[in-house]
Amino acid sequence: MANKGNSGTGTRSEVMVELERLDKGSAVALVGHPIHVMMVHFPIAFVVATLGVDVIYWWTGDPFWIRAGLWAAGFAFWSGVAASVVGTAELLLVRGIRLKEASWSHAVAAMTLVALAGANWGVRLLYPDQILPHGLVLSALSSVMTGFAGWHGGKLVFDHGVGILVSPKE
Ligand code: HEM
Repeated sequence: MANKGNSGTGTRSEVMVELERLDKGSAVALVGHPIHVMMVHFPIAFVVATLGVDVIYWWTGDPFWIRAGLWAAGFAFWSGVAASVVGTAELLLVRGIRLKEASWSHAVAAMTLVALAGANWGVRLLYPDQILPHGLVLSALSSVMTGFAGWHGGKLVFDHGVGILVSPKE
């Protein structure tokens, strides 16, 4: 019967075996819970909320939504920066995470998202009259990038076992 992990010669690549053996557990955790994973919900929620607020503003024209969008975009950006600082610490401190290509794909997608979220906040601070269309377009791009970065982050945990701490309890 074929062994999925075999390279065809009956033995697995030594590099892959070594990589899988390396610790990929979280280094920045609170009572065993990875802090990055606890933080990422905030940028995800605020980025999507900003898009929702922009659509309502486009629909109603009510200036209340300009202020709501400024706050939502600000929280999206700063909570993204905070989550990224912790994510970067994981990436740099844990060899098993650092050596995985997938970790870097996630980091690049996440940094692109945070840059877009920062631009979105900046547009609202400096040019509130430019929300339609520039803010709306940035909100849509940020939401797409959030999906991309979040999907890559999920793959890290569920496909690569990154950040999973296995309890010694049965
Ligand atoms: C440079 C920035 C970032 C780096 C280096 C990074 C790195 C990581 C790492 C190493 C993990 C695995 C879990 C852990 O070890 O804690 C992870 C998971 C994850 N990251 Fe990031 N991250 C960054 C920014 C972000 C941002 C801004 C978001 C928001 C969209 C995000 C969303 C996620 C998600 C959704 C997971 C999976 C969590 C789960 O399934 O429970 N990351 N990230």
